[in-house]
Amino acid sequence: MKKFSILLMFVALVTSATAQMTQEEKEAFKFADKLIKKMTLREKFGQLEQFITRRGVVTGPGGVKCDIESAVRKGEVGSFLSIRDRNEALRLQKMAVEESRLGIPLIFGYDIIHGCKIIFPENLAMSCSWNIDAIERSARIAAEESAATAIHWTFSPMCDISVDPRWSRVSEGAGEDPYLGAKIAAAMVRGYQGNDLSATNTIAACIKHFAAYGAAQAGKDYNTVDMSELMFRNLYLPPYRAAVDAGAVTVMSSFNDFMGVPASGSKWLLYDLLRKELGFRGFVVSDWNAVHEMIIHGVAADGKDAAELALKAHLNMDMLGGDYIAYGEQLVKEGRISEKLVNELVREVLAVKYRLGLFEDPYKYGKQDLSEVYYRPENMQFARKVAAESMVLLKNDGVLPLQKGVKIALIGPFADAPKDQLGAWRGLGDEKRSITFRTALEERFGKENVLYTKACECGRYKNGLIEGGVEEAVKIAEQSDVVLLSIGLSGWHSGESRSRADITVPADQQELLDALKKTGKKIVVLLSTGRAMDIRNEVEKADAVLLTWHGGTMAGPAVADLVSGDENPSGHLTMSFPYYVGQIPVHYNSKNTGRPAKSQFKAQGYSASYVDIQNAPLFPFGYGLSYTEFEYSDLKVLTPTVELGGVVKVSVKVTNKGKVAGDDVAQLYVHDVVAETTRPVRELKGFERLSLKAGESKIVEFEIPTSELAYCHTDLSWKADKGDFDVWVGADSYAPLKGKFTIK
Ligand code: GLC
Repeated sequence: MKKFSILLMFVALVTSATAQMTQEEKEAFKFADKLIKKMTLREKFGQLEQFITRRGVVTGPGGVKCDIESAVRKGEVGSFLSIRDRNEALRLQKMAVEESRLGIPLIFGYDIIHGCKIIFPENLAMSCSWNIDAIERSARIAAEESAATAIHWTFSPMCDISVDPRWSRVSEGAGEDPYLGAKIAAAMVRGYQGNDLSATNTIAACIKHFAAYGAAQAGKDYNTVDMSELMFRNLYLPPYRAAVDAGAVTVMSSFNDFMGVPASGSKWLLYDLLRKELGFRGFVVSDWNAVHEMIIHGVAADGKDAAELALKAHLNMDMLGGDYIAYGEQLVKEGRISEKLVNELVREVLAVKYRLGLFEDPYKYGKQDLSEVYYRPENMQFARKVAAESMVLLKNDGVLPLQKGVKIALIGPFADAPKDQLGAWRGLGDEKRSITFRTALEERFGKENVLYTKACECGRYKNGLIEGGVEEAVKIAEQSDVVLLSIGLSGWHSGESRSRADITVPADQQELLDALKKTGKKIVVLLSTGRAMDIRNEVEKADAVLLTWHGGTMAGPAVADLVSGDENPSGHLTMSFPYYVGQIPVHYNSKNTGRPAKSQFKAQGYSASYVDIQNAPLFPFGYGLSYTEFEYSDLKVLTPTVELGGVVKVSVKVTNKGKVAGDDVAQLYVHDVVAETTRPVRELKGFERLSLKAGESKIVEFEIPTSELAYCHTDLSWKADKGDFDVWVGADSYAPLKGKFTIK
């Protein structure tokens, strides 16, 4: 019976996936098939190679020793990455189109991760806005600026779920939750690709890093990933699937081995799952040299083996490794790879180039007047707003918002740090366009009211207290009413290959905080970071903590808007902040176990807990304070029972009980009380960002199709159970307001 139901599911999936092929895709593949008939085998492998024009070790060994320009003229290069200059891109394009035998245009890819010229908050920060429209708009703006720069393709969105802030690439993702991560991934694909890939203000998206790269063991980048298929399908797959469903035309295979096989050589991942089950019809590019690195993984004896493994896994394009062009023809001649397979891989690449309009006009993405596209005022204003919405107020004893005329001591390594506030993966961001905390605060409160000193360094090359820095900091603190202390981790500490075992604030910055604490002045910590951290020390000693993340080009005005009260903080955490690094992985959607802790906030034995610290994180998923107070009441389950296939309806009343207007994020969580497998104690299944004036109330209605309550069963079927469910609504994952419903 089981085999028959899997076969049925397989047939249904295949028909549904291929049935969705659009007219545009059919036309693109038809064009590609015609062109392939004219191509030599070598030219075909040329389309499957991506090179870089500068040699060098950026994120790992890569780049082959070859004369790039003669390779272009021979049609042996299909793509370049990291071409930052439009004229250089157009020069290479002209060479490919006008000097190679068939004139097949190049496709240019780049890491436009959270903005191109205007840099938005790092992705983890932006996810804390819970503002899906804003996240889509940030991708749209990034696409416009990229397309004008002849960047046709971005290696984004990064869809990797992660529950481990030791892994520095959490800064590029959307936090720990699959439901929110899926919404954000789809929004970014829509933002980049729009409705017409051939338009000169849209670019190809790239779902990365496929797959489960964020589950690297011990939080060490590139490390092994191994988990049950159920866990993968329930917690890590949803954002990738959502991005495929949103129409992303490329995917990037990840560095890590996954269930024993490096992703770049995994036919199960790249073909059976990605194409046959999810219905993906674009092309897969490897991560940087990841095909060649399968030798180091120990599954390929040499480059030729690695190429064979990756080609058979249906990996279309080799980023930088050079093994496809080096060994592809031999592999076909030796019968190890069929030319039929090569044609399939090539057609998927050519079809994307066709859909981008590159065959119609290879130079179309280089004609706009950049001064009309870059840094549009309305986009800069938007960047300021989304940066403010991304910041999270973690503690406030009332010292915030600051009153007019207050004298501020602004201290710390990130208060006047135009490059650091851009975070990692800064695209074509220009630190000269950054508006720093210092600049914005001087403008908002008056230069004479802001005393500044850096006091210590933090970054790639310089770390530690500056000579006399603490003394200077104490001096200006004593001359001020309040201290704004900008500490945490630098932009260099975010992004690739920056994993840390210690996720506390650097010791020299803690020393600075202690010295300032002795002055007795009120202290507001402005926390710069690209990851969740253990900030118990700072929360205990500061009177307020505002998580500023790495807020991008307009981070300064956003901070000024928030600390002055011009804007009310509204960010909510999308990644738990651990109480201690030893808790990791700590996340809200954990399982109950057979011996749950009696209290999440007390150390205890004889339960799934610690005898030395609490179970609960310092700050939970969904948490965020405001300058006002929101009350959740009158939770109503409007559908106490609902048929499978129906819609669960829940409403709640939200009231702004305070004196100022504010935004909050109403969150809905469910628990499947008795399921076929153990299920998370809470799962996010709905949220709404709402604005309320002082004293205003609003009834928020949630509608959850039972299909959203589906999960992977032990027979790998994806379906919801009949039975009882608990439901909560509130302002974070501890929401106490509870109801029940039953699926019949
Ligand atoms: C890097 C990253 C990947 C990026 C690629 C191209 O190693 O892992 O996210 O897109 O190389 O720069």
